[in-house]
Amino acid sequence: MDAKGNLMELAEQARMAAYAPYSAYRVGAALLCADGTVYTGCNIENAAFTPTVCAERVAFFKAVSEGKLRFTAMAVAGGKGKSTGADCAPCGVCRQVMQEFCDPDTFLVLIRQGGKVQSYLLRELLPMGFGRVDVEGETGDAGI
Ligand code: THU
Repeated sequence: MDAKGNLMELAEQARMAAYAPYSAYRVGAALLCADGTVYTGCNIENAAFTPTVCAERVAFFKAVSEGKLRFTAMAVAGGKGKSTGADCAPCGVCRQVMQEFCDPDTFLVLIRQGGKVQSYLLRELLPMGFGRVDVEGETGDAGI
C-alpha cells in the first residue's frame, strides 16, 4: 500500500473509536508530522452538543500538546455508522485549525471521493485563509 493508503487506513482505524451516540456519524483522522510520526483522532460528541469536537481537531491538539508543530498531511475518513468508504471532507472549523499550524501550499488533505483517495492542498480547501500572519503582520509585530 502507498503512503496515502497507509494514512487513510490509520484514519479508518481511528474512526472505530468515534464517540458519536447523537449523530452516529463516525469520523477518524490521521495526521502525519514532518518528523514521520502520526497522531490520530476521532470525533467525540457531547449531550450538550456544542462541546463536540471533530476527529481532525482531536488529532491536531494531541500532536500540538506533545510539542509537534510541523505537519505534512492528514487523512480523514468518515461516514454514517460503521460502514467504510463514504466521502467526508473536513468541516470549516477544522480547515481553520489546519490553517493555524500548516503551510497551505504544501499541507495535503487526503479524503475519499467516489471510492478513491484524493489529495488536496489546504489552500484549495480554504482559499484566502485567515492566519497568524494576518494578525501579526510579516514582521511578527501585533501592533500593540
Ligand atoms: N465531524 C468530524 O469529526 N469532522 C468533520 O470534519 C465533520 C464533522 C463530526 C462532528 C460530529 O460528531 C459528527 O461528525 C456529525 O457532524
